[in-house]
Amino acid sequence: MTAPKKLFIKTYGCQMNVYDSERMAEALGGEGYVETDTPDDADMILLNTCHIREKAAEKVYSELGRYKGLKAAKPDLKIGVAGCVAQAEGAEIVRRQPMVDLVVGPQSYHRLPDLLAKTQGGARALDTEFPDEDKFGHLKARPKARRAPSAFLTVQEGCDKFCAFCVVPYTRGAEVSRPVDRVLTEARDLVDRGVREITLLGQNVNAYHGIGPDGADWSLARLVRELAKIDGLARIRFTTSHPNDMDDDLIAAHGDCDKLMPYLHLPVQSGSDRILKRMNRQHTAESYLALIERLRAARPDLHLSGDFIVGFPEETEADFQATLDLVEAAEYGSAFSFKYSTRPGTPAAERAQVPEDEKTDRLHRLQALLTRQQRALQDAMVGRDVQVLFEKPGRMPGQMGGKSEYLHAVHVAGADVAPGDLRRVRITASGPNSLTGTLL
Ligand code: 5AD
Ligand code: SF4
Repeated sequence: MTAPKKLFIKTYGCQMNVYDSERMAEALGGEGYVETDTPDDADMILLNTCHIREKAAEKVYSELGRYKGLKAAKPDLKIGVAGCVAQAEGAEIVRRQPMVDLVVGPQSYHRLPDLLAKTQGGARALDTEFPDEDKFGHLKARPKARRAPSAFLTVQEGCDKFCAFCVVPYTRGAEVSRPVDRVLTEARDLVDRGVREITLLGQNVNAYHGIGPDGADWSLARLVRELAKIDGLARIRFTTSHPNDMDDDLIAAHGDCDKLMPYLHLPVQSGSDRILKRMNRQHTAESYLALIERLRAARPDLHLSGDFIVGFPEETEADFQATLDLVEAAEYGSAFSFKYSTRPGTPAAERAQVPEDEKTDRLHRLQALLTRQQRALQDAMVGRDVQVLFEKPGRMPGQMGGKSEYLHAVHVAGADVAPGDLRRVRITASGPNSLTGTLL
């Protein structure tokens, strides 16, 4: 038997890329590759890239530059670029870095084995099309290995919203949903392999409209309710959502579907209606807050998470203040905030930019407020009982770590629990990044 070839995948960006990397590793597993965690002894290096903010492409080129020595020492080494930079840059990548063997866009991963075969004779392979087929349906079935208790499952890709700052509609293409039976089959398979929590992924996951086994158009809420029937699956989450796609049934599901966790990532980006309009968000600060109110009426303990952009073109101090006001009103359990970053080809790139030091100042002020809120909500968990899905040993000896229903990291010392166990825990202390507690 020949020794397996080694595959090193470096993943950038969002959870959808994490999922894609897992599936690419499985597809290449069929070609005799096993994963390694260092590029040094790899036979193939794959960069799964992200293009959401500036300098992404430059980072990829400088990372590729680091592999020059490896390629010189081992001419058979295959180097591939996947993901959104691959989609955006295409053949330019091979032009700038001729040592790259293949470039594959996010919709063409199922063609990886063919692309790889093409490179065997030293040719370059490039595929950045948007084929009509479901790439996951064409990827080899996942092998039956045991899995960690929490898994991602991509159900939707692409975005039709065209926010004025965002490259996703260009790099990931139009919204496409996977059929319901494919999602259910994959979910059951994950559960058979030890998974107890599934996070449904999509760039715009709540815009999910998959064809059901009955031929009807299924919404995300209907999909969630069906997944909830799977024995052994304890928790369901989904991310990322757009406020305008939170339909009545999905709001209701937060109240009546026990397996749907009380945590929601619902980006708003800005609290200023003027900026929201310029961003082409198609909602107002008030409509967003009204939506949060409805969600909290359905599920009073819902923890809210969000994304914010500061320094969007033409954002004034008053606009920024409106964002701070919205944050005060909404109360976030966690949040991600970014300085606006110009993306060539997007409408906002052409507009009057906010000076960099202004952006930095606003980001610091926003993050200070968000951190305060996050910390206050986390500290308020002390003395409360939560349900923890245990995942892996903590950093301290004898400790086990897991996640609460609110996605807080929770550590318990000296407890007899194994990964995959779901146990009630009383929270006793709140640290900078996690909670500690004792088993009940
Ligand atoms: N500049 C800064 N942040 C951006 N995001 C998307 N595009 C940009 C950009 N051009 C942020 C948004 C989005 C998150 C995934 O990344 O907040 O919700
Ligand atoms: Fe980008 Fe999200 Fe807006 Fe779509 S909804 S364009 S993915 S920020």
